[in-house]
Amino acid sequence: MIRNFFEWVMGPMGRIAVLITALSLFSLTAFGIYQTQQPPDQPIEFTHKLHVGLGIQCLYCHPGALRGPSPGLPTQTKCWGCHQQMEKTFDPNFPELSEKLVGYIERNEPIPWVPVAQVPDFVHFTHRPHIAAGLNCENCHGDMTQVEIAENPQVLNMGWCLNCHRERAANDPEKLVKLTDCGTCHY
Ligand code: HEC
Ligand code: HEC
Ligand code: HEC
Ligand code: HEC
Ligand code: HEC
Repeated sequence: MIRNFFEWVMGPMGRIAVLITALSLFSLTAFGIYQTQQPPDQPIEFTHKLHVGLGIQCLYCHPGALRGPSPGLPTQTKCWGCHQQMEKTFDPNFPELSEKLVGYIERNEPIPWVPVAQVPDFVHFTHRPHIAAGLNCENCHGDMTQVEIAENPQVLNMGWCLNCHRERAANDPEKLVKLTDCGTCHY
C-alpha cells in the first residue's frame, strides 16, 4: 500500500497532486498571515499620517504614556476640540466626520476604538519607566507618522522585550538581573 502510494506520488499525476496540495497550503498560510496583519475595523477611519503631519504631538492624544498606567485612546471630546470649528466636520461628503464623529458627540458616547497594540493580562508593562529611560514611541511602535489606519503591530512578545532589556543593560550586571527577572514582567 505504502509502496503504491510512493509510486503514484512519483508518477505524473502524483506530482501534480503534490504541487496542488503544496500551493493551496502555501496560499492558506499566506492568507492567514495577511488576515492577522489587516487593520481591524475601527469605528472611525482615523489616520495618524494626516494628524501627526499637522504637527499634533503623540502625547496630546495619548497623555497616559507619560502620566498614567497606559497611554489611552482619545475620547470624542478631544477630537471635537478641533473638529467643531471645521466646516468639513459637518459636510455630508465626509461621513466619517459628519455622521460618525458628530453622532458620537450627539449621543455623548465614547468612541469604541479597537486596541491594536496589546500584551496579555499576565504581563506587567507600563510606559513610564520606558519613556523615563529616554525611549521614543517609534522605538516600539514604529513610525506612526506614516500609518494610515493603525495595523497590528510587530509582535510585542517576550523575546522582543528581553532582547531590548539585555541590550540596554549589557554593561550593568545588576540592572541585567533586574530587567531579565521573571518577576519584573510577571507577578
Ligand atoms: C489626533 C489624535 C492622535 C494623535 C496626535 C496620535 N494618535 Fe495614536 N491613536 C489615536 C487614535 C484615535 C487611535 C485609535 C485608533 C487606531 O488604532 O488608529 C490611536 C492608536 C494608536 C496606537 C495603537 C494603539 C492601539 O492599541 O490601538 C499607537 C501605538 C499610537 N496611536 C501611537 C501614536 C504615536 C506614536 C503618535 C505620535 C507619533 C500618535 N499615536 C499620535 C489618536 C492619535
Ligand atoms: C489638532 C486638531 C485636530 C484634532 C485634535 C483632531 N483632528 Fe481630525 N483633522 C484635523 C484637520 C486639520 C483635518 C484635515 C481637514 C482637511 O483636510 O481640510 C482632519 C481630518 C480628519 C479626518 C479626515 C476627513 C476626510 O475624509 O478628509 C477624520 C476622519 C478625522 N480628522 C477624525 C478625527 C478624529 C476621530 C479625531 C480624534 C481622535 C481627530 N480627528 C482629532 C484636525 C484635528
Ligand atoms: C518600550 C516600548 C514602548 C515604548 C517606548 C512606547 N510604547 Fe506604547 N505600547 C507598548 C506596549 C508593549 C503596549 C501594549 C501595552 C498593554 O497591552 O498594556 C503599548 C500600548 C500603547 C498604546 C495602546 C493604548 C493603551 O492605552 O494601551 C498606545 C496608544 C501607545 N502605546 C502609545 C505610545 C506613545 C504615544 C509612546 C511614546 C510617548 C509609546 N507608546 C511608547 C510599548 C511601548
Ligand atoms: C526598546 C527597548 C525596550 C523594550 C522593547 C522593552 N523594554 Fe522594558 N525597559 C527598557 C528600559 C531601557 C527600561 C528602564 C531600565 C532602567 O531602569 O534604566 C525598562 C524597564 C522596564 C520595567 C521596569 C523595571 C523596573 O525597574 O522595575 C518593566 C516592568 C519593563 N521594562 C517591562 C517590559 C515589557 C513587559 C516589555 C515587552 C512587552 C518591555 N519592557 C519592552 C527597555 C525596553
Ligand atoms: C521583559 C519582560 C519579561 C520577562 C523578564 C519575562 N517575560 Fe515571560 N512574557 C513576557 C511577555 C510580553 C509575554 C507574552 C507574550 C508572549 O507570549 O511571548 C510573556 C509570556 C510568558 C509565558 C507564556 C508563554 C505563552 O506561550 O503563552 C510564560 C510561561 C513566561 N512568559 C514565563 C517567563 C519566565 C519563566 C520568565 C523568567 C525566566 C519570564 N517569563 C520573563 C515578558 C517577559
